[in-house]
Amino acid sequence: MAKLLQLLLLFLISFAAAPSMTGVVGINLSGLIRRLLPKIRINSPPPPSNAPSSPPPPSNAPSTDVQTLLYSGDYTFLMELAIGTPPLSYSAIMSTSSDLIWTQCLPCLQCFSQPTSLYDPSGSSTYASYCDPSAANCSYYYGYGNTSFTQGFLGVETFTFGSAVVPGIAFGCGNNNSGNFDNSSGVVGMGRGSWSLVSQLGYGMFSYCLTPFGDTNTSRLLLGDMVTLTAQAQSTPFVTNPSAPSFYYLSLQGITVGETELPIPSTTFSIAADGTGGVIIDSSSTPTMLVDPAYSELKGAFESQMNLPVADGSAYGLDICFEYAGENVTGLVPGLVFHFEGADMELPWDNYIVADSSVGLLCVVIVESSDLSIFGNYMQQNMHVLYDLVGDTLSFEAAQCDQL
Ligand SMILES: *[C@@H]1O[C@H](CO)[C@@H](O)[C@H](O)[C@H]1NC(C)=O
Ligand SMILES: *[C@@H]1O[C@H](CO)[C@@H](O)[C@H](O)[C@H]1NC(C)=O
Ligand SMILES: *[C@@H]1O[C@H](CO)[C@@H](O)[C@H](O)[C@H]1NC(C)=O
Ligand SMILES: *[C@@H]1O[C@H](CO)[C@@H](O)[C@H](O)[C@H]1NC(C)=O
Ligand SMILES: *[C@@H]1O[C@H](CO)[C@@H](O)[C@H](O)[C@H]1NC(C)=O
Ligand SMILES: *[C@@H]1O[C@H](CO)[C@@H](O)[C@H](O)[C@H]1NC(C)=O
Repeated sequence: MAKLLQLLLLFLISFAAAPSMTGVVGINLSGLIRRLLPKIRINSPPPPSNAPSSPPPPSNAPSTDVQTLLYSGDYTFLMELAIGTPPLSYSAIMSTSSDLIWTQCLPCLQCFSQPTSLYDPSGSSTYASYCDPSAANCSYYYGYGNTSFTQGFLGVETFTFGSAVVPGIAFGCGNNNSGNFDNSSGVVGMGRGSWSLVSQLGYGMFSYCLTPFGDTNTSRLLLGDMVTLTAQAQSTPFVTNPSAPSFYYLSLQGITVGETELPIPSTTFSIAADGTGGVIIDSSSTPTMLVDPAYSELKGAFESQMNLPVADGSAYGLDICFEYAGENVTGLVPGLVFHFEGADMELPWDNYIVADSSVGLLCVVIVESSDLSIFGNYMQQNMHVLYDLVGDTLSFEAAQCDQL
């Protein structure tokens, strides 16, 4: 277990820009939290006035389910895919809070370093520009938080997922890209908008199962109608927000820490009339983020129920921390239950705790948010999560993801 805790803490610190001798300097988890929440600005489509109102449908939609491998990066989960003909394999962050599929493209004005070679549209026999030539501007800009973005031109390509070759996918060819994308070569959006992979493939559901951070085993990302969970799975409805139609909002009705149901007003997590607030599930945000008063009540409940002295975890961007000398974590930390509409999610401690005796800290991986609450990927480890877009529900169950 100590080894796992080390790994978990390593994941929290490993994206810090400058490695240091001690390995614990310059960590700022909070700086990453919003990194993958998109602020989109596509200059031409969608939808260009002179083009169909949605991306071109695949001209040869796969007749079977599409599946590919998924594995943990430092703070997100990466999927394997390939672009073009001949296919160029790469990995991309799988993000349920954004829509655009993009990768870095030649000729490159500004690119971050990526583990695979840059895609060259002129070297692929299946590349086509997305735009009608009469459209003046085929460029796009897609920003994540306020520090990361991709900018370039829109194209249509053949993509390969596992053994499925799918032509006609609209994507962003990014020739000016900046930010931390977790040692991947781009992002695959799985949001509800028309540009996402799931929308373009036209499938009614998809599922993923996130292996624990630090585990090198892979799991499967499945798109298609044959995705199933067992009878033990619980389901909760998606909620729509016309102001942010790409996000998967959930109805979170309460939180229990140990035996204490937090005293939070029923409106805490609702979507306000102006479209702010609400709770989304996101595969690409790491910690869970909660608005007040839920956050401060949760912090107070942990601090009063833990039999360990409160400690300062601000160096790690975490704010609910305790002194830790290597005690057995099982039985030491209070339980945590998220009460979604129709589904109580009882979380195992390693989905919300990071502990490392070498730095003497045990922290809750939940941080404060000023507006939107986010159910992050740290809490989704070892869980099979099914997004049913037809039934408009999210289902989940505990799973050993590399065995599915
Ligand atoms: C890249 O995009 C950024 C943001 O739009 C812009 O400020 C910068 O000048 C661009 N860089 C190049 C080389 O075009
Ligand atoms: C096309 O979009 C880019 C990116 O925002 C912008 O800088 C440029 O001015 C636009 N060009 C035209 C011709 O509208
Ligand atoms: C980005 O957002 C953070 C937090 O909201 C803020 O402190 C920082 O100044 C912003 N950076 C830029 C470049 O706008
Ligand atoms: C990035 O990923 C590649 C494999 O995809 C791996 O070989 C390399 O070590 C990674 N680099 C870093 C800095 O993690
Ligand atoms: C990875 O999978 C192998 C084979 O199923 C298993 O033996 C191993 O324990 C797994 N590793 C972890 C860290 O779970
Ligand atoms: C930790 O405590 C739990 C329950 O109290 C026990 O089942 C487990 O064996 C303990 N683990 C270790 C490593 O002592």
